[in-house]
Amino acid sequence: MEVKIKDVSEDSIKTGLLVLPFFEDKKTDLYDNLDVRVGGLIKKVVSSREFTGKEKQTCLLHVEGIGAGRLLLAGLGKVADVKQERLRRVGGKVFSTILPTGVDEFAVSTSAFSDHKINSDFSPIYYFMEGLLLKSYIFDKYKSKSTKDSDENKKEIAGCTIISSRDGDGTALAWLETVIGATRFARDLANTPANELTPTAMANAAKNLAGKLVKVKVLDLKDIEKEGMGSYLAVARGSAQPPKFIVIEYNGGKGVPMAIIGKSITFDSGGISLKPSEKMEEMKYDMAGGAATLGIMKAVSEAQLPLNIVAILPATENMPGGNATRPGDVVTAINGKTIEIINTDAEGRLALVDALGYAIKHYKPAFAIDMATLTGACSVAFGDEAIAMMGNDEGTMEKLKAASEETYERVWQMPLYEELKEYLKSDVADIKNVGTRKGGLITSGYFLKEFVGDQPWVHLDIAATAWYTEGRDYIDKGATSVGVRLILSLLKRLAGEKR
Ligand code: BES
Ligand code: MN
Ligand code: ZN
Repeated sequence: MEVKIKDVSEDSIKTGLLVLPFFEDKKTDLYDNLDVRVGGLIKKVVSSREFTGKEKQTCLLHVEGIGAGRLLLAGLGKVADVKQERLRRVGGKVFSTILPTGVDEFAVSTSAFSDHKINSDFSPIYYFMEGLLLKSYIFDKYKSKSTKDSDENKKEIAGCTIISSRDGDGTALAWLETVIGATRFARDLANTPANELTPTAMANAAKNLAGKLVKVKVLDLKDIEKEGMGSYLAVARGSAQPPKFIVIEYNGGKGVPMAIIGKSITFDSGGISLKPSEKMEEMKYDMAGGAATLGIMKAVSEAQLPLNIVAILPATENMPGGNATRPGDVVTAINGKTIEIINTDAEGRLALVDALGYAIKHYKPAFAIDMATLTGACSVAFGDEAIAMMGNDEGTMEKLKAASEETYERVWQMPLYEELKEYLKSDVADIKNVGTRKGGLITSGYFLKEFVGDQPWVHLDIAATAWYTEGRDYIDKGATSVGVRLILSLLKRLAGEKR
């Protein structure tokens, strides 16, 4: 969908459908002129209380006498509640209301927002459009035309015009389109089945990002062995697909880079500690952390943010082939620590510690953030609602909390108590890769901590939020691209500090 901004009046714009946002508790004469020309239809539905402006309420009117063929009144709810997240939800709802009308383009009035102040990075229309555009994502690559035709509501809308004369809406829109592009890219990757999205395919997706400020390096089996990443390699052994250790350097600024590391298990069968078959198909999204990382790097390079970033994706499948790692095997990580692998299904942490170790060894980053669909225990703790955050870098964690308030990709900090060390004591090696079921979320974080030393680091467990089994107001079921908007919000602020 092509989005543009136009400085025109609501009654003159030629469009299939014009969206008019309404507050519930604020009388408005904004649309009075327009209403006169359409025979007072708006007044009628408002005074009959068929439309009150309650949040997410909509009312569709076919009209004559103005440039628009239809008006869609869209309820925002009470003024005090209309902040970032409400705007996204209404935007999403508006998109799902427009889609079945069959219009191929529409326009959005921003008059109602002109004196609406919120404490946020952008003006209200940004968040409304963010919700609307997130909702417009469809993954139908594997549906043939006849299937698509019989699916309801899946016609594409070609264009959207934002009616605005505000300075700044243009640059905000450019950033929004970059962010949305990143979410779509990440969602496509995580939704793609594992027979297609192999580690090699992921490496190719990364290579496509190479450009003036972006260098992409892919380590193959031999290089991985040479680097001594025995922990990550242990995960790859059971698969016929070769592992690809992907390193992306973005050089848009000065100084030591920050590191972003994304878990990139393209399929997690559990390995020899095989998972039960129920929902196993969903384990194609076990690379959602890597997908988010690629989305972020794409956006950063598009926007040419003045930062230095190194992104690392230790991509591999976790499969139970004849050469697979056995429970009880002992392996050595890049930093020399030995690990007793008790459960081959706790593979994410095995891949991550070598990626973290590689980042520390080769880059000494200012701080490192990893994103990983690491534990089922994360969903036990948070339902589908929050990213579990752990780490030793309080400053970056505070910044992530602020970014999480802005984006509603909510993080919740969990503790890394020193007592957890006992949970991971091995009889034969320096550490074992799982404890008991107790504290499954925080022991996974503690395992990572044992490999970072004094490197400033934050771990984000996105297992609960990376995938929706039910659609929501502005995100449909399937891959959510969680992490993309969160980290981009953080990076945009950091870039602002550096300018
Ligand atoms: N990828 C899974 C975690 C996961 C489960 C993510 C469900 C999203 C949805 C991870 O590799 C895993 O299998 N973790 C195990 C760890 C356990 C063996 C200690 C788990 O959570 O069961
Ligand atoms: Mn697993
Ligand atoms: Zn996994």
